[in-house]
Amino acid sequence: MEDKVVYTIVPITLAHLDGFRAAVDSVAKEKQYLSFLEGPPYAMSKEFVEENIKGNWPHVIAIVDDIVVGWCDITSLNRPVYAHCGELGIGVIASYRGQGIGKALIIDALRRAKEKGLERIELTVFEKNLPAITLYQQLGFFVEGKKNGAVKIDGEYDNLICMALRFDGVKNEPNDKEILKELKNREPIFHHPDKFGRTEHDILNQICDEFWEVGASGNVYTKEVVLATLLERYNDPNYQDIWEAKDFALTRIAQDNYLLTYTLIQDKTRLTKRSTLWRRENGVWKVLYHQGTIVS
Ligand SMILES: CC(C)(COP(=O)(O)OP(=O)(O)OC[C@H]1O[C@@H](n2cnc3c(N)ncnc32)[C@H](O)[C@@H]1OP(=O)(O)O)[C@@H](O)C(=O)NCCC(=O)NCCS
Repeated sequence: MEDKVVYTIVPITLAHLDGFRAAVDSVAKEKQYLSFLEGPPYAMSKEFVEENIKGNWPHVIAIVDDIVVGWCDITSLNRPVYAHCGELGIGVIASYRGQGIGKALIIDALRRAKEKGLERIELTVFEKNLPAITLYQQLGFFVEGKKNGAVKIDGEYDNLICMALRFDGVKNEPNDKEILKELKNREPIFHHPDKFGRTEHDILNQICDEFWEVGASGNVYTKEVVLATLLERYNDPNYQDIWEAKDFALTRIAQDNYLLTYTLIQDKTRLTKRSTLWRRENGVWKVLYHQGTIVS
């Protein structure tokens, strides 16, 4: 097993400017995530960092072996009526992703934003950027809107998702359409290891403690049985997963609790009706209960 990378999160200083610029440049040049396709010029980056330091705007970086490997900044929207808001930007160099650095950066920056007295943190993210959207949702950001076709990179369009987090306790509850989209994206449950991970930690992160399931076979499955079955399935190179899911319908049961029903066709022949009870715990969608009933 590889050793976990050791990183520190610190507020940026001008001594980090070159490292910060290199990190931004590297992520920008991936041409997939940021609104600029290479790092901004030296003078602009310097002014940006100086302004953030001077205004006590949260701007933290992650350092590994003296190299700046990521950043998170929450900056001014530069208008009096938006003075209670901040705009969030974040990035981690590709080879350092998936090790908790992004989450640590954003949590640190949000804490500083709160201490500064900000009330609302907003951001925009490309719709295809599922890792970032998942991270934001996990930390309590909600989708507020979408700018269709607002992004065009090398002739390819993407939509821009507007998200926000409010510290004042007022929830920007997304409408049912948004929730349906989020939950459909996770169904059929446990069939998306590439999206939601294949380790014990990843699987448990998707299941409530009280989880149980009644399979289409009529068998009752506990959380432990489901975990063991999934670990075996995800590690089997010959496992085939052919399915089609349709006829989704969503019912809100209570705050952060939803019933999702749909039809599942497996191996092109096995038709079942599915019901999942979804619960959002600390911004993370988890399955509380699942049932399948054979139709044909
Ligand atoms: C978004 C980004 C900053 C996340 O940083 P990271 O260090 O890879 O993230 P972490 O390892 O801390 O993971 C934090 C959370 O992000 C989400 N996430 C990370 N990788 C994911 C993936 N491949 N698929 C789905 N979710 C993912 C998960 O919610 C994860 O939490 P969990 O581990 O508890 O499940 C990083 O992917 C990145 O720099 N991307 C390119 C730049 C970018 O997209 N910036 C944002 C523009 S709006």
